[in-house]
Amino acid sequence: MIEVLRPPSALAGELQLPADKSISHRSILFASLHEGRSEIRNFSSAADPASTVACMRALGVEIAREGGHVTVEGVGRGGLRAPGAPLDCGNSGTTMRLLGGIVAGAGLEAELDGDHSLRGRDMKRIADPLARMGLHMEARDGQYAPLKVRPHEGVRPMRFELPIPSAQLKSCVLLAGLFGEGETQVVETLPSRDHTERLLRLPVRYEGEGGGPGPGWEGPRRILASSLAQQVPEQSYRVPGDFSAAAFWLAAGAVHPEAEIHMPGVGLNPTRSAALQVLGDMGADIEAANSREEGAEPAGDLTVRSSQLQPIDIGPDLVPNLIDEIPVLCVAMCFADGVSTVRGARELRHKESDRLEAVAELLRAAGARFEEHEDGFTIYGDPGFRPQPARYRSFHDHRIAMSAAVLALRASGPSEVSGAECAAISYPRFWEDLEGLTN
Ligand code: S3P
Repeated sequence: MIEVLRPPSALAGELQLPADKSISHRSILFASLHEGRSEIRNFSSAADPASTVACMRALGVEIAREGGHVTVEGVGRGGLRAPGAPLDCGNSGTTMRLLGGIVAGAGLEAELDGDHSLRGRDMKRIADPLARMGLHMEARDGQYAPLKVRPHEGVRPMRFELPIPSAQLKSCVLLAGLFGEGETQVVETLPSRDHTERLLRLPVRYEGEGGGPGPGWEGPRRILASSLAQQVPEQSYRVPGDFSAAAFWLAAGAVHPEAEIHMPGVGLNPTRSAALQVLGDMGADIEAANSREEGAEPAGDLTVRSSQLQPIDIGPDLVPNLIDEIPVLCVAMCFADGVSTVRGARELRHKESDRLEAVAELLRAAGARFEEHEDGFTIYGDPGFRPQPARYRSFHDHRIAMSAAVLALRASGPSEVSGAECAAISYPRFWEDLEGLTN
């Protein structure tokens, strides 16, 4: 699908954002491991969480969906049954890595597979620690899906220091650990998103001196999981709006000269929302009001207005807390009054696409001045920047398609985004919402 975008004279309105993708996945997985019913409200209608629902149904969990209202009849850790066919994780790395931990921990005979993009993503990062726990996951060529899981003789306790600040890897190991009598300990020295430990109420211990990158970060954290110590709590809550979806509008509103966009009910977990801090430091006019808890997660209402952005440097410490927002932050940097940098973001090369390469192509097509590095960018911003009309490729990557749209909104003429349908992976109504803001 090709979207043709004409730069609008104004961007204004209120948006009901899609529900948080990371929390939606976890709500289904954890509700399945709870013994008894959970009622989840405002569940995401995007394609990735639908893959998780389909996989859990294939493992014998009864899940009823009526719009955003989902009822899960949890079977408990002992109640999952081996699937009759490969589990199709679609495009979703979160599904494959978290479910991989569950299936391996449960000792089921199962195969996990996914689409072309997911088959190209590194799964050795989960297979290796699972092997140390005595679990069996065989990856194609030692690294890729399909992944073949077989029964084990017991989950061995392990202390695992996260080699990369990845919430998917952390969650995979903790979920496998939930099936072992001994204690699994995961230590992280940079804070990756903490939805898993929050929603499962896992014990967290702080090690070392404290201080560090993000707000509320008290130093290296050790997270514990075991079958004896932890009940899996019921997962009945309302899923907040997806901050990663809000980020596209925060950037678009900040760089457009006639903009005011309201977004009620957005998840504001500090391990997710560092882009708010970065855009604020860049001088973006963003207001966060009505702070509250939605389920086990902080949320609030966001408003963004036209702003003159200043340049910024994003270093490795901050990267895990804005990992999915970096593409659109790079777009925003093109409009700042000076030179911005992103460093320590090599992990972006291992997402749904090589996002550094994809962003470089977007910026090149737009006529921006920048240098691509192995682990980030130097971007020479210009407040007078008007992207040239371009035909952007989405790389079949939802966040690249939506970042291209933000560039197109400020262009000097109509632009196109090809492969635009992939926005539905996380944000099914993105193109409609965009149209709504421009009318
Ligand atoms: C996610 C974690 C992040 C993120 C992804 C969702 C999650 O991946 O990029 O979109 O829900 O745990 P990594 O933890 O592998 O960096």
